[in-house]
Amino acid sequence: MQVTMIVNGERVTRDVEGRLLLVHFLRDHLALTGTHWGCDTSNCGACAVWLDGEPVKSCTVLAAMAAGHEVRTVEGLEQLGELDPIQRGFMHCHGLQCGFCTPGMLMTTRALLDSNPNPSEQEIREAISGQICRCTGYASIVRSVQWAAAEESGTRTSTVDPASVRSEPRSRERTADRP
Ligand code: FES
Ligand code: FES
Repeated sequence: MQVTMIVNGERVTRDVEGRLLLVHFLRDHLALTGTHWGCDTSNCGACAVWLDGEPVKSCTVLAAMAAGHEVRTVEGLEQLGELDPIQRGFMHCHGLQCGFCTPGMLMTTRALLDSNPNPSEQEIREAISGQICRCTGYASIVRSVQWAAAEESGTRTSTVDPASVRSEPRSRERTADRP
């Protein structure tokens, strides 16, 4: 079957099997490998993209279901050669280590800041609660989102400095304090 959709602002049309998942459509048919495929069971969130502006796990969506809709992937975050503030936040606050979860985290937290420009730590943790990071312990991801929120509101230097945000004890980060 033929599917047509808008991906990162570009209209794309491909012949695909009806059973093809959106994550594989993006990676294998469009070479947009920034969207990661981690579990295939809807648990890890590494495959998160936007569908009509809402984060979705692209391993739970058929490419055919996305036909006629707008998809945005991590490749579409940067604009005119400028990294999005959420990308810069992850860079400044070390919000990634291996980077496998990062594309999904970026798409989810970008959507969070679009709807809630000044989220609390709890709101950030709730927003990413469907995503697994095996490396960071989440504290640096929370700091990254706070950095981006402060950057976008113009209050970064006066309110949120990465070095001043309290980190949870590592033992809690890795277990009970997971989102
Ligand atoms: S690959 Fe989609 S949730 Fe893990
Ligand atoms: S940075 Fe490695 S899984 Fe999150």
